[in-house]
Amino acid sequence: MTELVTVTDTNRVRTIRINRPDKKNALTRPMYTAMADALKAANGDETRVVIIAGAPGAFSAGNDLMDFMEAPPHIGGDETPPVEDFMRALLACEKPVIAAVDGLAVGIGTTLLLHCDLAYATPRSVFTTPFVNLALAPEYGSSQVLPGIVGRVVASELLLLGAKWDAARAEAKHLINAVLAEEGFEDAVHKIAEELAAKAPAAVKEAKALITRPEEDLHARIVHEGGIFASQLRSEEFKEAATAFMERRAPDFSKFG
Ligand code: COA
Repeated sequence: MTELVTVTDTNRVRTIRINRPDKKNALTRPMYTAMADALKAANGDETRVVIIAGAPGAFSAGNDLMDFMEAPPHIGGDETPPVEDFMRALLACEKPVIAAVDGLAVGIGTTLLLHCDLAYATPRSVFTTPFVNLALAPEYGSSQVLPGIVGRVVASELLLLGAKWDAARAEAKHLINAVLAEEGFEDAVHKIAEELAAKAPAAVKEAKALITRPEEDLHARIVHEGGIFASQLRSEEFKEAATAFMERRAPDFSKFG
């Protein structure tokens, strides 16, 4: 247990907050474990959307450098280090995960965004992955995922040059969805999360699973989608959506999932 990560649930939205502001939210092993546990639990409880947030001005300064030296993690080694447990839990999270970045997003603070479903940031946010500057290398698929999002030469600004991107560049290059004002930032992200949480939960889960499914033959994908579409057409969720349309009211998916 660590109090450096807090977990709160409001209206089926779980907020996992990195809360170590005196160290700019640098992440230690117990903090990764707490985050991993909260993500894993979200798959089995009534959480519909997860937000990962930080402290004002510091989303995360990345891995705690002392921790790195004390216990250098070996991803894919014999034991699963807490950081890998966390990243695996993030990739395996069946519910949508939204990153709320207000301030520094260094190292894994930026890498983790590549595995979230939506990401928002304040104007003062700075994104950087200074791995090569630290004589290290890109992590958790970022050498593949980031070039896929922004293109190889642009990814190399972050992954080779260790550039610092401001929020506007991060938005322009599709690392984040939007830059939102600092004032009321978390409320605004929570509102987006609640909007998503109000949707049909099985439909949301299936859509996320499809979006994150590895690339495949397009016909195979169409057939796979078709099976899910057909099954959703027979679902109580769809019945509620269609009935609400006929009755000219908003659908109520609160009783599902
Ligand atoms: N690991 C351990 N401690 C860290 C840390 C990290 N990744 N990032 C910041 N801290 C600590 C600092 O040591 C300092 O502690 P102290 O007050 O006990 O001396 C405190 O957080 C505040 O950091 P400081 O450097 O004074 O703040 P700043 O606003 O001037 O700079 C950063 C913030 C994030 C730019 C700078 O701290 C930094 O470059 N940190 C290292 C980032 C990094 O390399 N992360 C790993 C990537 S793999």
